[in-house]
Amino acid sequence: MSMNFLVRFIRGSVASNRARIFMSKQSWEEFYKKGQTPWRSLSVDLSETLKKAGISSGAVLDLGCGTGEFSKWLSDRGFAVEGIDFSKEAIKTAKEICPSCNFTDWDLEDLENYPFKHEKYDIILDSKVIAFIENKEKYLDLIRSKLKGVFILQTFLRHDEKPSIAVNEGELELLLKDRFNIKDKQIKSFPNKVWVEYLLTVK
Ligand SMILES: C[S@@+](CC[C@H](N)C(=O)[O-])C[C@H]1O[C@@H](n2cnc3c(N)ncnc32)[C@H](O)[C@@H]1O
Repeated sequence: MSMNFLVRFIRGSVASNRARIFMSKQSWEEFYKKGQTPWRSLSVDLSETLKKAGISSGAVLDLGCGTGEFSKWLSDRGFAVEGIDFSKEAIKTAKEICPSCNFTDWDLEDLENYPFKHEKYDIILDSKVIAFIENKEKYLDLIRSKLKGVFILQTFLRHDEKPSIAVNEGELELLLKDRFNIKDKQIKSFPNKVWVEYLLTVK
């Protein structure tokens, strides 16, 4: 076992075990059925981010797309959008709000077997999803392999060790810096929570 592998394994295990809150597919279905979706009040306007990235067209992969608001926003601006989420309820709504998008009900823990429509994507978006992914190393490796443009990652941040809907900034950045260049990082607040938006390119 190489030293590099060992370091990556330990980092990955620590990050996965500490940073993930377990939320079953069923719990997400219930949130969507009851219309309990507070995260949707975050803005879906990516104009500033796209300007910084210098991207105005191409293929988008929206990971954990939920009810598809980001997908619709991007599709309305001419992008060819594919959205993935394992909540059937969310995907049903997403298909209604964006008929021109291509949505699939799929588990992101099994992203390697997803039938990608494109070899590589101009934009890959993860908005408030990574905290719920168990194998973050595998997930980020997959994203890296499918990226030709920018990876936009938005997540709530925390600075303690408790599991929550947010990720620990230090642990996340160790995982990101192994794979991506951080082109931009914006810390934002919403109303009483801190969240961050990273603009990443392949290293
Ligand atoms: C906080 S919501 C964010 C939804 C959307 N990205 C947004 O910003 O409005 C997290 C989403 O991730 C999805 N999700 C969580 N774990 C997943 C997994 N393993 N596979 C697919 N989707 C998952 C949930 O169903 C939910 O729609």
